[in-house]
Amino acid sequence: MSLSFLQDNQNITVPMSLTMKLGPKIRNSYVLGSISIIMTLVSVVGGVEYPAINCRKHSAVLTDFGAIGDGTTSNTDAFNSAITNLSQYVNDGGALLVVPPGKWLTGSFNLTSHFTLFLQKDAVILASQDESEWPSLPVLPSYGRGRDAPDGRFSSLIFGTNLTDVVITGDNGTVDGQGSYWWGKFKNDELKLTRPYLIEIMFSDQIQVSNLTFLNSPSWFVHPIYSSNIIIQGLTILAPIDSPNTDGINPDSCDNIRIEDCYIVSGDDCVAVKSGWDGYGIKVGIPTQHLIIRRLTCISPDSAMIALGSEMSGGIQDVRAEDNIAINTQSAVRIKTAVGRGAYVKDIFVKGMTLSTMKYVFWMTGSYGSHPDPDFDPKALPQITRINYRDIIADNVTYSARLEGIPNDPFTDICISNVTIGVSEQKKKLQWNCTDIAGVTSGVTPQPCDLLPQKDGNECPYPDDILPIENVKLQTCTF
Ligand SMILES: *[C@@H]1O[C@H](CO)[C@@H](O)[C@H](O)[C@H]1NC(C)=O
Ligand SMILES: *[C@@H]1O[C@H](CO)[C@@H](O)[C@H](O)[C@H]1NC(C)=O
Ligand SMILES: *[C@@H]1O[C@H](CO)[C@@H](O)[C@H](O)[C@H]1NC(C)=O
Ligand SMILES: *[C@@H]1O[C@H](CO)[C@@H](O)[C@H](O)[C@H]1NC(C)=O
Ligand SMILES: *[C@@H]1O[C@H](CO)[C@@H](O)[C@H](O)[C@H]1NC(C)=O
Ligand SMILES: *[C@@H]1O[C@H](CO)[C@@H](O)[C@H](O)[C@H]1NC(C)=O
Ligand SMILES: *[C@@H]1O[C@H](CO)[C@@H](O)[C@H](O)[C@H]1NC(C)=O
Ligand SMILES: *[C@@H]1O[C@H](CO)[C@@H](O)[C@H](O)[C@H]1NC(C)=O
Repeated sequence: MSLSFLQDNQNITVPMSLTMKLGPKIRNSYVLGSISIIMTLVSVVGGVEYPAINCRKHSAVLTDFGAIGDGTTSNTDAFNSAITNLSQYVNDGGALLVVPPGKWLTGSFNLTSHFTLFLQKDAVILASQDESEWPSLPVLPSYGRGRDAPDGRFSSLIFGTNLTDVVITGDNGTVDGQGSYWWGKFKNDELKLTRPYLIEIMFSDQIQVSNLTFLNSPSWFVHPIYSSNIIIQGLTILAPIDSPNTDGINPDSCDNIRIEDCYIVSGDDCVAVKSGWDGYGIKVGIPTQHLIIRRLTCISPDSAMIALGSEMSGGIQDVRAEDNIAINTQSAVRIKTAVGRGAYVKDIFVKGMTLSTMKYVFWMTGSYGSHPDPDFDPKALPQITRINYRDIIADNVTYSARLEGIPNDPFTDICISNVTIGVSEQKKKLQWNCTDIAGVTSGVTPQPCDLLPQKDGNECPYPDDILPIENVKLQTCTF
């Protein structure tokens, strides 16, 4: 490799593998050789450090595969060939794909195992609005039908199934779902298949999604399903507050999940914990469990900061929510269920919430309705029990609580302690509206309903053990 070679080939793209091998001396010779090559080096390389569950031995840049970051050329083939190429390293230390600064239009593409997708600062992945760029998939077994249309569903923009060890991260790069096209079709009832999600990972283990900004998903943003050992961290998720079903993060039939330090503004629930729909979810029977959600900031005027359900037919248990903030949000940690769902929502622990401008602080709904089939099993009653909330400060609240269990299937063992709620100017007379529930309260103002009698000095439980996913330490990786 000589300086004159480089000078004669100033417009070559420097592959990662090559630049990694070059010593500082030769890298300096680029500086002498070519301004344009310096730009490539500065923007694409430069010893980037990032935290991840696993580092990778190999790396490549999207442009190595013919991608053009002009915002109008489709790069679906480039993403697919890059990831197919890098999948050769699955058993050889894994690989990382760099998405450099630029606007990279693409349809849906699939991830591989032992793989990292890294979006540099000012890298924007733009989702195509051309439906031919979105392959279809069968409906999810635990849902039995699509949520927008009964038959199939569009594959998510970034999709993975049956994988081990996948990281989607970056230096706060952006994935923009350009959802307005899909929201319009949904509102006009023109969808033949269910809308795609921004990211969906199925049947996988060891997943990290972190340090990125996600905009305008066609529907839900981040959907891990039938998966385990998941870290979701440092995401900024933004969608218009009137966009349909733009849930932020939906852990669905997943085990061991840690969601932390995310900022979400959306048209639906900031986090929606799910596990399947009526008989389909009961049959698949995979719960969401061992989930911690901490330091979330949520703005969602028409939905919840954290919803449990309404699709919860595989069960939801051991959910911990700590130090979360909601502003101008309809409700805080809401339980949604219905006759026909079966299963349970139990062992829910909420500690430390700061809430401002809320319609409800506490909201549970046993009559949510919304069934995949009209002939759901009326004997499939959900069991809602051991729901604990403590250390909450709220202001400008319209209703303190609306707690509606199911007749002959009450929600039991509800515990609420150390809660101060400041009601708004437009406060409603009936601050605590309770039916078919049972539990206790302590140190709660305004005064709770008779179904939640005061038990002085009672502190609602919060587990003092640590979930296995909380012990996972991220390594410092470089490329
Ligand atoms: C990712 O965010 C974490 C904090 O959540 C921060 O410590 C880390 O430096 C960030 N990494 C990158 C590559 O931006
Ligand atoms: C993909 O992998 C092959 C085999 O390792 C390699 O020779 C080739 O250069 C790669 N393709 C691109 C576009 O980098
Ligand atoms: C992506 O994965 C899905 C599900 O396995 C599959 O149907 C589809 O063909 C894959 N797409 C590509 C481009 O490999
Ligand atoms: C993925 O895993 C699921 C559950 O183990 C299995 O039913 C399915 O056949 C697998 N799919 C592929 C493409 O390997
Ligand atoms: C990431 O980008 C978003 C959108 O520009 C911004 O709001 C957020 O503060 C950024 N996060 C970090 C950690 O820089
Ligand atoms: C209080 O809440 C109402 C809606 O109930 C809202 O219009 C108003 O701006 C809020 N006030 C403050 C000070 O946040
Ligand atoms: C009550 O909750 C507040 C936060 O809202 C917290 O600072 C305080 O320590 C709690 N008190 C007790 C006795 O736990
Ligand atoms: C109380 O809650 C029930 C059940 O959710 C509802 O039907 C009723 O309208 C509520 N009453 C008031 C006064 O808000």
